[in-house]
Amino acid sequence: GNYQNIVSETRGKVGLITLNRPKALNALSSALFHEVNDALFKFDADENIGAIVITGSEKAFAAGADIKEMKDNVAIECYKTNFLGHWTDITKVKKPILAAVNGFALGGGCELAMMCDIIYAGDKAVFGQPEIKLGIIPGAGGTQRLVKAVGKSKAMEICLTGSVNLSAEEALNLGLVSKVVPADQLVDETIKTAEKIAKMSQPMTQMVKECINQSFELSLTSGLLFERRLFHSGFGTHDQKEGMSAFVEKRKPTFENK
Ligand code: HXC
Repeated sequence: GNYQNIVSETRGKVGLITLNRPKALNALSSALFHEVNDALFKFDADENIGAIVITGSEKAFAAGADIKEMKDNVAIECYKTNFLGHWTDITKVKKPILAAVNGFALGGGCELAMMCDIIYAGDKAVFGQPEIKLGIIPGAGGTQRLVKAVGKSKAMEICLTGSVNLSAEEALNLGLVSKVVPADQLVDETIKTAEKIAKMSQPMTQMVKECINQSFELSLTSGLLFERRLFHSGFGTHDQKEGMSAFVEKRKPTFENK
């Protein structure tokens, strides 16, 4: 793609999106976010891509929404244009998205990471929601997804003070991220996991993602039913026959995403 604020490339079956506004610490301008969405949906539609990685630079994953761009916003215009509504488009991507977070993941940067499916952190990563210090509240999941990841007291502390940030190690201990890696190895390590996922049957990895996301929306009974029905539908796929035959025949399966 011909992007100004990101670099979008492929590594085998993995789509790699690198936020690239180094002078603004990858502040998430509207233009940048539209490019991220565009790249994401192109990968989502590309049969050859099985998983997607989003990363920033070693200094910053993203230092938040672009403060300069929004400082003169007017409430009624925000309402009419559903300001930042397009940020949530990411959650409609069917393929698994991994965030590789080095450096600052603040405000919208932390929220962007939390909209991804797996977060790996570099050892110097910093997660926080400093919006309150700007006289505003988080607007893309900081008060919602963060609670589910780290619990109420920590989420309150982070969002109410704006200055209690999480180190990579703390984020790992609280369950916000699933792995901490030395900063210079983070992207390769994240791509490795993405490659593993990309080798699986795409309809199945997408069903797993759908099911786990439904666990945040549904009662346990409804969530289990949703899971059971998708599980049943899996027996209608070539890849299930292939996966289980390969096990019985003691060979590696070749999934064909069908
Ligand atoms: C616009 C930003 C920015 C941001 C940094 N910059 N963060 N520009 N929006 N969110 C710009 C700075 O203005 C500066 O540009 C350049 O990036 C380098 O930043 P410095 O502050 O000089 O770097 P440093 O001293 O290393 O400090 C790093 C930092 C600090 C601690 C991350 O930049 C910072 O506090 N940034 C703001 C973090 C924040 O409040 N994020 C939440 C945003 S609100 P110039 O041109 O001056 O050199 C938000 C709401 C989300 O995200 C709402 C829902 C979607």
